[in-house]
Amino acid sequence: MSRNAEELADKIREIAGDAPVRVGLILGSGLGHLAGAVEGVAIPYDELEGFPHAGVSGHVPQLVIGQLEGVRVAVFGGRAHYYESGRGDAMRLPLEVLKALGADTMIATNAAGSMVPDMPTGEIMALSDHINFSGLNPLIGEQTDARFVPMKDCYDPALREVFVAAAKAAEVTLHQGVYAWYSGPSFETVAEIRAIRTLGADAVGMSTVPEVILGRFLGLRCGAISAITNMAAGMSDESISHSHTKAMAPLGAAKLEKVLRAALPHI
Ligand code: HPA
Repeated sequence: MSRNAEELADKIREIAGDAPVRVGLILGSGLGHLAGAVEGVAIPYDELEGFPHAGVSGHVPQLVIGQLEGVRVAVFGGRAHYYESGRGDAMRLPLEVLKALGADTMIATNAAGSMVPDMPTGEIMALSDHINFSGLNPLIGEQTDARFVPMKDCYDPALREVFVAAAKAAEVTLHQGVYAWYSGPSFETVAEIRAIRTLGADAVGMSTVPEVILGRFLGLRCGAISAITNMAAGMSDESISHSHTKAMAPLGAAKLEKVLRAALPHI
């Protein structure tokens, strides 16, 4: 754990109180409203030195610490993507801070394109696994042997079971599937989508995978849920753009919030 992370955690505790955080939530494009549901304190990333500027529209760059469904959470309103800086480890410091605040669990959310005809826009999907199709890795340059992180079951099976039970209780359809990480920021070509479909991916997006690698590196239990904002390139006539992503994200966000609220007390 870097000294910087410990210092930032101290600063956050001074502002938000000493009680340890249980769960970290990372909010994807257009999924930021969940931060507003937390009873707590919002700290702009600007006040946390080394935190990403989170310069992508549809993200609110602040950390909210407080209670959600009786669980102490840290909600990251914005994330740094690889494509913003060319740095795969852009979320390392925020996740180290999460760990230093006491969290043992990290849940990432994202907007994603679907490659499954029965999983259209507005649906949500719990990640069962991922394909790192970018070939990039946030641990490149890490000097210790801890860099050799096992990734089997990186999406914690027990946590996924909690999501499934929560979705059932909330009467929300929750798909499960494999997420492929493309670096972005350009969207995929039709041939690229055909390729990753053939390789076994169900959804595609530009985030989450580096965070889950870092989360496992830090010993956090990881889970992730995608909100499907479009059918992937070539899968339908639907337009694909960032504004479409932001416009469609609220459809899934409402379901995501129901599932997360129902899941949190059981995590
Ligand atoms: N591709 C990559 N990232 C995305 C998509 C997509 O189709 N939709 C939302 N984020």
